[in-house]
Amino acid sequence: MLALSEGKEDAVSESNDFVVELRSVSKLYGDAAAVADISLKARRGELLCLLGPSGCGKTTTLRMVAGFVEPSSGSIHINNIDMTHQPPYRRDTGMVFQSYALFPHMTVAENVAFGLENLRWPREKRDKRVEEMLELVELPHFAQRLPSQLSGGQQQRIALARALAIKPAVLLLDEPFSNLDAQLRVRMREELQEVVRSVNVTTLFVTHDQEEALTMSDRIVVMNAGKVEQIGTPGEIYETPATPFVAKFIGWCSLLKGTVDDAGAFTSTAGLRIIGKWSAGPATVVIRPEQLKLSADGAPGQRQQARVLHSHYLGGATRVVLDVNGEQLIMQERFPFGRHPQHGDVLDIAISTDNLRLIGDA
Ligand SMILES: Nc1ncnc2c1ncn2[C@@H]1O[C@H](COP(=O)(O)OP(=O)(O)OP(=O)(O)O)[C@@H](O)[C@H]1O
Ligand SMILES: [Mg+2]
Repeated sequence: MLALSEGKEDAVSESNDFVVELRSVSKLYGDAAAVADISLKARRGELLCLLGPSGCGKTTTLRMVAGFVEPSSGSIHINNIDMTHQPPYRRDTGMVFQSYALFPHMTVAENVAFGLENLRWPREKRDKRVEEMLELVELPHFAQRLPSQLSGGQQQRIALARALAIKPAVLLLDEPFSNLDAQLRVRMREELQEVVRSVNVTTLFVTHDQEEALTMSDRIVVMNAGKVEQIGTPGEIYETPATPFVAKFIGWCSLLKGTVDDAGAFTSTAGLRIIGKWSAGPATVVIRPEQLKLSADGAPGQRQQARVLHSHYLGGATRVVLDVNGEQLIMQERFPFGRHPQHGDVLDIAISTDNLRLIGDA
């Protein structure tokens, strides 16, 4: 059994950069692949987020790392040890499940102590650890309550305390904030980041919320239909999406299909032409809302006339869907009070070609 005592950190070789590694991992249910040939690595202390639409294989991937689901092929390594066929309790992982799953008949303290008891920690040491964990998640006076006497957010924090209590090498979180309201969710994100940094635990975090992924992660793994589409920092994923799917899934954007001619200019299927210096061939252009500006404001870029199709007032700005030369483009702009664009209005806009992302079609 893996030692989970206090001296553990020293025992793990510091030269080993990667705490979790998946090598060509697949999971088949009958003929259907829930996960198809995934390879990824998480560095020590890294917060790595698995992001993708419902059913893309996020939970299956996390459960394979925890040991609750056995891969059909490939291997899983934790701290450089092949764990593919080891039971969950040998893997040095702590998991928070998609629904928080505290034991309802146990008090908060008993819940947090659960993993420690399995590891046969002596009572005194165990009690001290439970106290530390409840301090960490800022619920020090809740030890004797039952889960049913806690709010959803408090249950969430206790689930986190329970997962962290055994000082796992790897923390696995499956949509831990999905049931919280928007404000509590933002606070919990910040809290979790602080907790994760303070104990320097490698964390795999599942979400289908792109904002959560962008704000929390060191790196994001974008998944689609059981496969990895792209792995990168939030900036890399947003600014240089590798595929149209990634561009569309992270942030608002318009995708224009078309062709680059020999002069390097792109012409979309509907006929919108964007001058650039790209290599010839079929391609998709990604236009983010912030790349469109009102040309009356003196914005640089290619000038175009645009007709307003839809206008959504967001408070701090207005999101406008425009028809530009037969293509639909999304712009986000702060219009002067009382001058919000209406359906049918015509606007003069400038398309900034700086950092315009063009994805060559394979
Ligand atoms: N035990 C199972 N038997 C058969 N199919 C399964 C099983 N578990 C998962 N699947 C299928 O595998 C695919 C991936 O499921 P998974 O739970 O990993 O998705 P997810 O990305 O976590 O989705 P969500 O965001 O909805 O939680 C789905 O199509 C699902 O129906
Ligand atoms: Mg899931």
